[in-house]
Amino acid sequence: MARIMPEDTATIEARALFIQTFGCQMNVRDSEQMAELLRTQGYELVDDEREADLIILNTCSIRAKAEQKAASYLGRIGEMKRRKRSIVIGMAGCLAQQWGRRALDRLPYLDFVCGTHNIDMIPEMVQDARRHKTRRAETAFRETVASIGVAALPAKGSVTAFVTIMQGCDNYCTYCIVPYVRGREESRESGEILQEIRIMADKGVREVTLLGQNVNSYGMKLNRRLDFPGLLDRVSEIEGIERIRFISSHPKDLSDRLIDAFRVLPKLCDHIHLPVQAGSDRILKLMGRGYGTSEYIEKVAKLREARPGIAITTDFIVGFPGEADEDFQKTIDLMEKIRFDNSFSFKYSPRPGIAAEFMEQGVPEEVKRERLTAVQALQRLHSCHSNRLMVGRQVEVLVEGPSKRGEEDVMGRTGTNKIVNIAAPSIDAGSTVEVTIARAYLHSLRGEVRKKEKS
Ligand code: 5AD
Ligand code: SF4
Repeated sequence: MARIMPEDTATIEARALFIQTFGCQMNVRDSEQMAELLRTQGYELVDDEREADLIILNTCSIRAKAEQKAASYLGRIGEMKRRKRSIVIGMAGCLAQQWGRRALDRLPYLDFVCGTHNIDMIPEMVQDARRHKTRRAETAFRETVASIGVAALPAKGSVTAFVTIMQGCDNYCTYCIVPYVRGREESRESGEILQEIRIMADKGVREVTLLGQNVNSYGMKLNRRLDFPGLLDRVSEIEGIERIRFISSHPKDLSDRLIDAFRVLPKLCDHIHLPVQAGSDRILKLMGRGYGTSEYIEKVAKLREARPGIAITTDFIVGFPGEADEDFQKTIDLMEKIRFDNSFSFKYSPRPGIAAEFMEQGVPEEVKRERLTAVQALQRLHSCHSNRLMVGRQVEVLVEGPSKRGEEDVMGRTGTNKIVNIAAPSIDAGSTVEVTIARAYLHSLRGEVRKKEKS
């Protein structure tokens, strides 16, 4: 890696950038955009933080655990800075938004704090830190997040990519900090989104995942002509894009038009992530979710009718304030009824400023732990069962690259988003192959190649 040059040197030498990303895909995409903005300033991404001249921590604050992880990582790089004083350290993302200027007071080694709407200001903050030793915190919410339009390409050779189609959230579920740290909901211009995807397709991307806190309400607020199903339709016209996914969907806004999209758009993958959160209508009401379990069950039935075999995944929160044993049992009953292909489950974590912060009847930690264990055990059964049902079937797999399992394997995904390892090292990333599923595990499948379809 190139040496650091004095600031007044006319030629810009490459500097090394390391970004540590926590949290959701939205943060992963933001990190790609940070890297792109800094690349134009002469920074190159490195895999090892010890080589870096600039370290950015892209944080998450959704649960206390995410916050603790960021705090302990910050402590560690603070230590590094004591040994190598020239490194610039920045904190970005949702926790940076929440802490704001206080982060600079708490952490003397921190050079800048960048909120969720201020990513475009990072190059300037880095320069100020280097040239003038100025420590800045920029966390003002803005109407449009400028960096959302930075057409960063995913890592070289990537077959899959994320595309942010909207920012923020207006739902204010009572457990959720997102509206406070990501601001109000705003959809991105469709023309810009489509252009970004066209560029990605030209560079070899075959699968795009459209990102937003609630993609179902895309375009609704400004009465844009194009709603989310309309956008999906336009994306599926883009040559080179073979698969389209999206996250996340709010069940209350899952329209019949979107369900129909699964009927008519073959490029739309056989998968939907539809966070239900709880199986008790009483708790859903306290959470401010805007739907009940019967509505949820009905929507899942319609999805399964529109696209037989569609994989349904979800999120659960256990131990929300006031969740009694009977309420929790209803979550288990719902799991049995729907049999999700997979789920993420979390213990309710109080967050500062959210509506549920002051709700009474908090559930004891021990009970939360027991409930989480029960949900996860049942999910393992259901996931194993749904994977076992695949054995003997023929499925299309989009190959993404070498497998973590070993050099002899490549790894890809089914439309249902299940990982498939295939013993065929010569298959190129980006090829779609038809495989027969030979074995099923909890988190992956083993496939055997039948014939090479398209590449
Ligand atoms: N505590 C626990 N889980 C939470 N989630 C969001 N906020 C909280 C919280 N305060 C979970 C929800 C959401 C997922 C991204 O994180 O299940 O769907
Ligand atoms: Fe993503 Fe929410 Fe975490 Fe922010 S707080 S990184 S939006 S999961």
